[in-house]
Amino acid sequence: LSACGSSKSGGSGAEGDTIVVGYSQLGAESGWRTANTEDIKKHLTAENGFDLTFVDAQQKQENQIKALRDFISQDVDIVAFSPVVETGWDDVLQELKDAEIPVILVDRSVDTTVEDPYVAHIGSDMAAEGKMAGEWVQENFPNAKIFELQGTMGSGPQVDREAAFDAIMGDNVIGKATGNFTRAEGKTAMEAALQAYPDMDLVFSHNDDMGLGAIEAIEAAGKKPGTDIAIVTVDGVKDGLQALVDKKFNYVVECNPIFGEQLGELMKKVVAGEEVEKNTVVEDKTFDQTITQEEVDARPY
Ligand code: AHR
Repeated sequence: LSACGSSKSGGSGAEGDTIVVGYSQLGAESGWRTANTEDIKKHLTAENGFDLTFVDAQQKQENQIKALRDFISQDVDIVAFSPVVETGWDDVLQELKDAEIPVILVDRSVDTTVEDPYVAHIGSDMAAEGKMAGEWVQENFPNAKIFELQGTMGSGPQVDREAAFDAIMGDNVIGKATGNFTRAEGKTAMEAALQAYPDMDLVFSHNDDMGLGAIEAIEAAGKKPGTDIAIVTVDGVKDGLQALVDKKFNYVVECNPIFGEQLGELMKKVVAGEEVEKNTVVEDKTFDQTITQEEVDARPY
């Protein structure tokens, strides 16, 4: 796919000048997000040819929309953003398009009526992650009574992980509640679920942080996480992998947050008007309880 049509005329990056980037990060809700933010800031530096304005929206769509509009008034060379939810972006995406500012969608997806709203997307395949989790549960706990801890409702990872997991294990799901991808809300949701579904024997958590909150709730209820109630999560942050070593998590599907360097390369090409892939899928692995303490200690985030 060519970046032209969305690329601004006279884009500065083509000549090796500084590329002015407006970046709207959705928040700091999880260990994954912190690692992702650090990696992006590590690579979009002045030394690497970027002038980065990075704005944290604190999980609020209106803050993201405001940041994107500010980037339009600043006439940045390129915008990147990680949308907190999938819908509600039509107006601002159209405004970005009218301003001829190319957009790179990072990590999450959008659902919009705007035609050709972004030049490229970079991030994990969230449906593939849900599928990997579902296949492992089918293989190892085919009769489990499952409680699902959902991420932020209406976000790409919640929608896609849930649909793919439920396509395999949906008949076994006895209850669902959102923990908004945070440890604190995961714990609260799990406390209520332990009362509502005392017969659950497996939790599928859409991220590590909510799973870590679930561990606290399960232990407080006098049960053993990983044994009385199995826990399957997505992300693979250090704390999550430590829970695997400690046998409190049973299986973790990775969502890899480390793609700042690839993002920088993508931005340079887009601003230079070069052809880029419409979708760059970041590679994800899986981890089970055979992971060693050494591997966890070597994990950089
Ligand atoms: O969009 C990626 C997801 O967002 C990660 O799985 C989760 O931890 C984060 O909050």
